[in-house]
Amino acid sequence: MSKGKFIAIEGPDGSGKTSIIKALGKMLENEGIQPVYTREPGGSPIAEQIRELILDVDNTAMDYRTEALLYAASRRQHLTETILPNVQAGRLVISDRFVMSSLAYQGVARKIGIEAVWQINQFAIEDHLPDLTILIDVPAEIGLERIEKARHSRQYDRLDREALAFHQKVRQTYLDLIPEWENIVVIDGSQSIEQVSNECFESLKEHGMIN
Ligand code: TMP
Repeated sequence: MSKGKFIAIEGPDGSGKTSIIKALGKMLENEGIQPVYTREPGGSPIAEQIRELILDVDNTAMDYRTEALLYAASRRQHLTETILPNVQAGRLVISDRFVMSSLAYQGVARKIGIEAVWQINQFAIEDHLPDLTILIDVPAEIGLERIEKARHSRQYDRLDREALAFHQKVRQTYLDLIPEWENIVVIDGSQSIEQVSNECFESLKEHGMIN
């Protein structure tokens, strides 16, 4: 059986990733492709337990380095339990976030430093990077406005509660990382979900992720 592919969808809070993945999934399913949908933090039973701990709004005392280590621990478990076995089995794995999130959120917005965060993540991922990363880019103001609007229908977690300046740093770091990142596509997330998901679908084709 031929090896599958691992796709990561990245972007600031409120970039619409979750709705985009749903719409993209429908398009793929119409083509007879049944992807494995997964997410970070989380994506496996143990990693989902770590997610609860990280995003719990009552955990206000969590140290930033503890937070970074927990994201990396959750990622390790997700990789070994969900991503790698499914890719080995020939599946198309679509993950809502992966390591780029830690560089942007913990590395820069939390001020730990990209190099330090990259090192603990390299320990966790051992060079396993996505075959393609799709970055849904949206200004922090638009992202936060969307989160506010959807506040009652979606989990409003510990990181969503950070101020505008935090989310601006996250967005800027994603943009700064683009030139150094291999196999990345950037899509304008201020467009409609339909437009963005169409562009995602085309990118998967162009980059040989699907036939
Ligand atoms: P989500 O809202 O996309 O489910 O992600 C939950 C939050 O976790 C979101 O605010 C981004 C944050 N996050 C990090 O800070 N570092 C990470 O490595 C990941 C995967 C997510």
